[in-house]
Amino acid sequence: MKRKTSRRNFIFSLITVCALAVPAVSFILFNPGGKRRVIFTKAERDEVAYKDEIFVLSLKGKITVFSAHCTHLGCIVNFNKEKNIFECPCHGSKYAIDGKSICGPSKRDLNKLPFVKKNGKIIVETA
Ligand code: FES
Repeated sequence: MKRKTSRRNFIFSLITVCALAVPAVSFILFNPGGKRRVIFTKAERDEVAYKDEIFVLSLKGKITVFSAHCTHLGCIVNFNKEKNIFECPCHGSKYAIDGKSICGPSKRDLNKLPFVKKNGKIIVETA
């Protein structure tokens, strides 16, 4: 009788360990270094598309990807469609549509991010 209980406890423990270990191991294996992946499908992309603190520009067939973080102190910039520029709501920095800084306090352009184009999707991996 005691043997059946002990076997049942062992199996229950094994299942519990597996249930906890599988998500932890897959997180470590598939998210090395805490990188995150942002995917823009073709349908999501307009001339200027925004998702998860990233802008994707598709201008005249050329794709450019920028971090949406202002290079002054890191606020998220907004795209002003009427003026065709990026504006920071925090201290007023402005960037041209190609990400170049056009007025301060920021002195640097928006940071370009590397991306991969695969099956019509834009895949961006950031730290
Ligand atoms: S954080 Fe953007 S202007 Fe200061």
